[in-house]
Amino acid sequence: MRGGLTDAEQPARVVVIDGPAGAGKSTIARTLAQRLGLTMLDTGAIYRTLALVASRVGVSWDDAAGLATLCRGLPIRFETLADGAQRVLLGDEDVSEAIRTPQISAGASVVSAHTAVREELLAVQRALGAQGCVAEGRDMGTVVFPDATHKFFVTASPQVRATRRRDERLARGDRDVPSVDDVRRAIEERDMRDSTRQASPLAQADDAVRVDTSNMAPDAVVDHLLTLIEAAPEG
Ligand code: DC
Repeated sequence: MRGGLTDAEQPARVVVIDGPAGAGKSTIARTLAQRLGLTMLDTGAIYRTLALVASRVGVSWDDAAGLATLCRGLPIRFETLADGAQRVLLGDEDVSEAIRTPQISAGASVVSAHTAVREELLAVQRALGAQGCVAEGRDMGTVVFPDATHKFFVTASPQVRATRRRDERLARGDRDVPSVDDVRRAIEERDMRDSTRQASPLAQADDAVRVDTSNMAPDAVVDHLLTLIEAAPEG
């Protein structure tokens, strides 16, 4: 019993992690979710899947109304594997790899800038996180889960973020990986678009704790966040 409510009556625990590309959000959110026994909600994967579907069916990434229609009934699901990794399913198709290409990264940034798209996907994200989650994205603390139990804004220097993104691609066996400087330019372009758009730009919520991960290993970041969460379990 907490605050006069039984455990069953407590609002679900939602931890949000916002921040720019390559800050380490996904790794941190995945590990944190495992440690807290919550599911992870990778909202970037939803925008990526929309960009993939649009390119397959021939809807332009600039066509806000067409994209909004595609959002309705987008058959996206997440499946968590035993090791904590997550698969993104479109119907029965595993699109986890297909949504990680540079082309779809750029497309996700373009489709996510449309207000109509964000409005359609708001309810989808809230429904997916309704039972409690560690949600990562750009506007989790500001728009999607403004009443989250804990809010974090995770960032790192552009050079560190570019190096991490490049290493991720090398680890995936990508043979055509550009230089760190080129990856950095692409990341900065995407950050600029994500932060300056009208609709729910990338922004730190007033009540979020900012964590610079430039000089921290992912495990150290997770330990740090867990310490903060345990120090104030009700948020
Ligand atoms: O986190 P990511 O790299 O998978 O996100 C892909 C794109 O989706 C990114 O350019 C910004 C956008 N995005 C967003 O606008 N809002 C979110 N909550 C998550 C991602």
